[in-house]
Amino acid sequence: MDKPEPSSSQIIDSAAAKKRGIWGSKLGFIFAAAGSAIGLGNIWRFPTEAANNGGAAFLLIYIACVLFIGMPVMLAELTLGRHTRKDPVGAIRSVVPRGLWWLAGALGVITGLAILSYYSVVAGWTLGYVVKTVSHTFTPQVDPAKLFGAFAGSWWQEILYHAIFMALCVLVVIGGVKAGIERWSKILMPTLLVVLLLLVVRSVTLPGASSGLSFYLSPDFSKINMKVVVAALGQAFFSLSLGMGAMITYGSYLSKKDNLVTSAAWVSGADSAIAILAGLMVLPALALAGIQPGVDQGGAGLIFAVLPRVFSQMPWQPYGGIIFGAAFFILLALAALTSAVSLLEVVTAYLVDEKGWKRRRATTLVGAVSFAIGIPSALSLGAVGWLSSMVSLQGKEIGFLDLMDKLFGKLSLTFGSLLICLIVAWAWGSDKARKEVQNGNPRFVLGGLWVFLLKYVCPVAIMTILVYLVVDPSVIR
Ligand code: TRP
Repeated sequence: MDKPEPSSSQIIDSAAAKKRGIWGSKLGFIFAAAGSAIGLGNIWRFPTEAANNGGAAFLLIYIACVLFIGMPVMLAELTLGRHTRKDPVGAIRSVVPRGLWWLAGALGVITGLAILSYYSVVAGWTLGYVVKTVSHTFTPQVDPAKLFGAFAGSWWQEILYHAIFMALCVLVVIGGVKAGIERWSKILMPTLLVVLLLLVVRSVTLPGASSGLSFYLSPDFSKINMKVVVAALGQAFFSLSLGMGAMITYGSYLSKKDNLVTSAAWVSGADSAIAILAGLMVLPALALAGIQPGVDQGGAGLIFAVLPRVFSQMPWQPYGGIIFGAAFFILLALAALTSAVSLLEVVTAYLVDEKGWKRRRATTLVGAVSFAIGIPSALSLGAVGWLSSMVSLQGKEIGFLDLMDKLFGKLSLTFGSLLICLIVAWAWGSDKARKEVQNGNPRFVLGGLWVFLLKYVCPVAIMTILVYLVVDPSVIR
């Protein structure tokens, strides 16, 4: 590659290369990509979306979205990245030099910056909650919802933790990647899984768990409507890190020997498993937190208002609660860090590769700008009144953070994924894409199905949803 300085993903790749003897490059990649995919999207966003969109109805549609739209799009991004070995804008330009297709890459860069801004705010909450848990703020007597309200309404805590998290991200992308991300992911992800499983066991055996459980697991088909579909599809793109070129960037460091199909399947499978478990941890505990599943609407603070109840019901109190609570929030903050790094990396790689910026300068500036854009989000959960009610959709007040998430986390990723389907399957061409996948997977048994999904099913499904959104914007609420 003719780049002046290695990007951090390249360093990840060379770290993977060094370990090749033990792990094989493919496993290294899977951990790095799973590190990007698994984060707040799984544990904060998925249960909240499920709680607000009919529980089991949402779960069903979500699984269908991952299988028929998310996985094909992930394979498309990886294929485009490996073929071109470039950042998203450069990758698109090199397969379709004509026209304005590269704008899809530019949209991705902007979207990355925007998502990172509020992602860092929520990740900051998890840092704050590590402190709160360790200092034993969550006794069974306190109401965690009230506590979250007070925390989120405190402007200095919001800004402080947001700043700390963003600074960590910048530091990791500038220098720490080689020493850490990939190796951490290998330890982090399995540990997160174990802690999650233990918390699920506690949660499903809590008093009152059955109402949440049946809400989450026994589908009520009458609850399936366009709002649920929009939410599930947006959640699939967000959780799998699709629609803005993150997987193009990760794919650009894959070897021609790697089997892209099984890689995409592993990453999507691991990501979905963690999300579904997170739902099993949060939804059964709603009743204990005084929230009626399917009736009350949960906002961005839902898991922070619910989980302390689960921790305070762990055995061997108060230590059980403190240990599990702290372990959980630390792991979540680290999982968020490995995801946020991939958001920051896309924007940084663009400035370094396309604009020739110095890596350190690019990373610092992107971090600073994203921090600034995140300030209104940080203040929108009570600290500043008008930021908490920017718009009202059918009687529901939407604050700045929520608005950013709907615009960028849902709408822009959905639109970006549509563009990626069109670019790979039509503008570049499905035959060429298929040939690229066949490096490392000569038979590519599901090739015909993939091309069919990518050419017709995904674009038509996504376009239908986007048209629907234009006609009735309230379905995004
Ligand atoms: N997938 C991550 C999560 O679930 C968030 C994320 C990281 C992301 N990189 C992304 C989302 C790129 C969309 C695009 O927490």
